[in-house]
Amino acid sequence: MSSQVHGAQPFDKAKRAETVFSEEAMKTVQTIISHYPTEKIKSALLPVLHIAQAEFGGWLSPETMDYVASVLKIRPVEVFEVASFYTMYNLKPMGKCVLEVCQTSSCWLNGAEDIVKYIEKKLNIHVGETTKDGMFSLKVAECLGSCGTAPMLQCGASFHENLTYEKVDTILENYRAEGRLRSYTDLDYKNTL
Ligand code: FES
Repeated sequence: MSSQVHGAQPFDKAKRAETVFSEEAMKTVQTIISHYPTEKIKSALLPVLHIAQAEFGGWLSPETMDYVASVLKIRPVEVFEVASFYTMYNLKPMGKCVLEVCQTSSCWLNGAEDIVKYIEKKLNIHVGETTKDGMFSLKVAECLGSCGTAPMLQCGASFHENLTYEKVDTILENYRAEGRLRSYTDLDYKNTL
């Protein structure tokens, strides 16, 4: 596959050869695929990409996208087109916890900008960046459907609502203590704060 298909990220044949779903992830993928007729298999792409992102370090490398294409028997460029369209897929390495702060109307009116600035200062990064220790990345997002409890942020499958600076401190401390990758496919998510 051409590296042009994946923009700036180079394609590594050795890494591609090592890119294989775990047995458990493959079982889930096969279950998802079984929900669609063979000629509509591409419809399984979104959930399969979520599993791939969780399985392979929180982002979709060219090798991962190529692998997903082979599993679904579609063209790599079709995977790239979808992965590069939706903001919940990461096309470069990210921190273990990707903090997505909603910046749309309700959140904006209730202080989202200040929350973003507070996180930037606290983590010493800007929006779009990752902390040096690889623990946190910061993004802004459009409405995440929790407008009544603004301002809010999402990290993996967890929503954190009615944010204050104190809550942000606790959220970051908790994630740092936990120290693991958070993804949209987490089954143990909880609205902790
Ligand atoms: S405006 Fe922030 S969740 Fe809807």
